[in-house]
Amino acid sequence: ALPPLVDPFARAITYLRVSVTDRCDLRCVYCMSEHMQFLPKKDLLSLEELERLCGAFVDLGVRKLRITGGEPLVRRDIMTFFNAMGRRLEAGTLDELTLTTNATQLRRFARPLHDAGVRRVNVSLDTLDEGRFKDITRWGRFAQVLDGIDAAQEAGLHVKINAVALRGVNDDEIRSMTRWCHERGMDITFIEVMPMGDMGEEDRLDQYLPLTEVREELAKEFTLTDIPLNTGGPARYMRVEETGGRVGFITPLTHNFCESCNRVRLTCTGQLYMCLGQDDDADLRDVLRASSDDAPLRAAIRSAITRKPKGHDFDYSRREVRGEVTRHMSVTGG
Ligand code: GTP
Ligand code: 5AD
Ligand code: SF4
Repeated sequence: ALPPLVDPFARAITYLRVSVTDRCDLRCVYCMSEHMQFLPKKDLLSLEELERLCGAFVDLGVRKLRITGGEPLVRRDIMTFFNAMGRRLEAGTLDELTLTTNATQLRRFARPLHDAGVRRVNVSLDTLDEGRFKDITRWGRFAQVLDGIDAAQEAGLHVKINAVALRGVNDDEIRSMTRWCHERGMDITFIEVMPMGDMGEEDRLDQYLPLTEVREELAKEFTLTDIPLNTGGPARYMRVEETGGRVGFITPLTHNFCESCNRVRLTCTGQLYMCLGQDDDADLRDVLRASSDDAPLRAAIRSAITRKPKGHDFDYSRREVRGEVTRHMSVTGG
């Protein structure tokens, strides 16, 4: 076997997040601008190229693959790619194949995804209020998302809800969303909003809600205990005694988790981002296209990993945003 990928801070890279498209059928305010300029389709890697690239990462020891976007399920023929990666699960070279989605297309895709070997999906949903849902996503239909979630559960997929905590937007729904998820047998994870893209500085500072406050809000109604669950992602989990369900906390701002970082991100054009919170990237597309031999590709991946930074510099202290990243979240899908 090949030596595993280890970065300069002795962190083993075993988790690859792959953005298969920068497009999305929604425009969540914290993720994209309203008039987003999408990449010309000719710049995208083909699904075969993405397959080969991901295969190279798996050969180098990646065990978890999360497919993201934009919205991954709007990429044409995406099941071809899931099926190909599913064969790595069968071969035992991959432990988990999963995705993060807005759920709008799940009615159509839940069963094929399960057939491909997907067992869990993370669904981004920040509110249970139809009007608010429209405000956040700019034109999303809440009923379609609910139906997508139902379809996923009917197909036997475990659903986890991801909610970005936003002051003045959904801070009064922390407990009701938790109750709602747990009643349906779903975990919920809250996320601190990160300064990505071109959302106004004022809006960010106004909307940033530290999860310490979310936890206090939950404690008004629930008894929370730490649990050691490790899904390979950055969330820390607690059990809610009253419901039996779990709540995850993703706290890039209040409790930095970079020390245990195990992941890198690939874009649909073949750029590798070594850190979500940094703009440095390495181009793998040219290397991929230069030769059908995987050796130079593996060398390029190894070389990129030597550039992985210690962590992000996100910070909202002293009423100013620091460590801001100019690319939109939709480039790497979180
Ligand atoms: P699980 O497999 O369920 O643990 O999911 P995950 O947390 O690995 O993936 P998911 O797509 O659900 O991630 C949720 C969000 O957490 C992302 O969209 C990001 O906003 C944030 N996040 C995930 N990984 C990182 C990371 O490495 N650094 C930072 N700063 N945020 C991250
Ligand atoms: N800060 C934190 N999380 C974000 N997401 C999108 N933009 C941001 C941001 N600025 C989340 C989405 C989804 C995942 C892909 O990333 O809600 O769960
Ligand atoms: Fe890893 Fe960067 Fe995320 Fe920190 S901010 S956990 S180093 S990707």
